Amino acid sequence: MNGAPGCSPGERGALPKRRWYRGVFATSSPMGAGSSFLLRKGWVAVKDVEALRSEALAGIAAALDEATLERARVEWLGRKGPLMDALRGIKDAPAAERRDLGLALNRLRDELEAAMAARQAELRETALAVRMQAETLDVTLPGRPRALGGPHPLQLAEDALVRALRQLGFRLAEGPEVESEELNFEALNIPKDHPAREMHDTFFVADLPGYVLRTHTSPVQIRSMRAHAPAPVRIITVGRVYRRDDDVTHSPVFHQMEGLAIGEGIGMQHLKATLYEFCRAIFGRDVRIRLRPSYFPFTEPSAEVDIGCVFCGGNGCRICKGTGFIEILGSGMVHPHVLREGGYDPQIQTGFAFGVGVERIAMLRYGIDDVRLLFQNDLRLLRQF
Ligand code: PHE
Repeated sequence: MNGAPGCSPGERGALPKRRWYRGVFATSSPMGAGSSFLLRKGWVAVKDVEALRSEALAGIAAALDEATLERARVEWLGRKGPLMDALRGIKDAPAAERRDLGLALNRLRDELEAAMAARQAELRETALAVRMQAETLDVTLPGRPRALGGPHPLQLAEDALVRALRQLGFRLAEGPEVESEELNFEALNIPKDHPAREMHDTFFVADLPGYVLRTHTSPVQIRSMRAHAPAPVRIITVGRVYRRDDDVTHSPVFHQMEGLAIGEGIGMQHLKATLYEFCRAIFGRDVRIRLRPSYFPFTEPSAEVDIGCVFCGGNGCRICKGTGFIEILGSGMVHPHVLREGGYDPQIQTGFAFGVGVERIAMLRYGIDDVRLLFQNDLRLLRQF
């Protein structure tokens, strides 16, 4: 047996036929408030119609929303409701009462339907008024000002660098931050035992053997050459680079801008003229520059470029360590090995390349004396730009 305890299969689902309606009279009832009434199914006396009326009207008036009102409609006017029962019972009423009963019940039905409709309209109106109240929009209120952001000083420096070189005919190129060791090192003539390849400088990518976080933007040189050789190229690229350094003057992530020009007959004079124009665009027309012999595996000859100290005007200060000059970039003539890697014949095409630290430029341009300030996002600094 699977019925509920104490419930025999015969009882289950077989509800007794509803015969009686039990209710409580509303205050207006002629039989007095709170008294019970019983209506016998199939017959209702004319005098009982008033009881039904006041009870139904009270139910309608008590509905505070449309759902409750609908339930009241089903309860009082529905097919199984007392009014329909009473209408069906007219035929069983004594002949003398039938006519009056019919009239009374039909009038009651009309009245209740009208009361329902009126109550529904009322409820809708109230709901709308409540909504209007809740959703008021005062168009005369002053607007809420939104704090305006601004470009980061690094972005400003980057924009200035790119603008300066675009004016000299360089086009923007791009490369990935996760770069192959081949492009980051080998193709740039950095052999396996070069210090830059030692663990302490380079971030390797755990799940990607043969790939590193690029340690400089120079792999974009190779990418651009391979995309254009043997045609001439003149590109710049700018972006994030990574090295395992973290101290007062080094951040593990920083930014570089790289320039590259390849073509027939390009010489050191073009490099120097380009860098001079570039420095004048960034630091002003009176800037002095100095090329110092240096070494990079991918350029030969190589030169580091200094500008006259922008802080002391060349007299010597703490920032330029008394030398009157500040180093700003590395450069040189592209190494024949690198030209070949890029698809050029070093006998025919030559070129120059340079790499600039963007943080350095931002610090010099805006007089910021601590590289970490550029990464701390302190609004006291950022608001000044
Ligand atoms: N890639 C070099 C560095 O990261 C800079 C450089 C670029 C030097 C191009 C010469 C030519 O230090």
